[in-house]
Amino acid sequence: MAEEKYIKIADDYQGYPLDMFCIPKHYEQDLQHVLIPSGLIDDRIERLARDIMRDFSHEAIVGLCVLKGGYKFFTDLLDKLKALNRNSEVSVPMAVDFIRLKSYRNDISTGNIEVIGGDNLANLEGKNVLVVEDIIDTGGTMTQLLALLKEVKPKSVRVASLLVKRTSRSVGYRPDYVGFEVPDKFVVGYALDFNEYFRDLSHICVINENGMSKYSVKR
Ligand code: IMP
Repeated sequence: MAEEKYIKIADDYQGYPLDMFCIPKHYEQDLQHVLIPSGLIDDRIERLARDIMRDFSHEAIVGLCVLKGGYKFFTDLLDKLKALNRNSEVSVPMAVDFIRLKSYRNDISTGNIEVIGGDNLANLEGKNVLVVEDIIDTGGTMTQLLALLKEVKPKSVRVASLLVKRTSRSVGYRPDYVGFEVPDKFVVGYALDFNEYFRDLSHICVINENGMSKYSVKR
């Protein structure tokens, strides 16, 4: 595997003021700043697609989308892979599969994942699987998912995560493809949610105290 490549966003990075971008009115009071504008996300995904194509060297891929947070990254990554397939001499056949996991309540990991829907994992036996996830925080979710996948004996498994959080709570897991390494803050937008809110925000933003308390689920 090639050395790990990603865009590192520093801890003290203040991003962009909200009023420099178009933010839905209903979230204007709930965010600190824009951390990664959607245009930059798009450009980074284009390059990840190229790296993935190179590594799979013509072997068929099954893209496994981890719902719900991974859906935007999954569809955008797939679009870029399809564009490469359309425009190059060699192409890679692709299929898609979906899995839905639940592990979070408010901004605290509950430590255990639960598969609450999606395709039958047994279909992945003997396949080259590309797991597509939105964010690796502690790495607990991905470690558990990879253990589940191993049981169905895929030919290979690689993981693409748009974001990896730099956190002391990490279990040490690192994905094969990473878009951005981000500070240890709760981020929303581009399908990343806080209790199901903010999926309808295009840019990746840092949530503020107001947003946290407004959208918290009472325990
Ligand atoms: P982990 O098991 O701690 O790595 O957590 C992974 C899951 O937690 C991700 O798939 C997300 O659903 C969720 N998560 C972790 N950090 C964030 C965040 O900053 N924003 C939104 N979701 C997050």
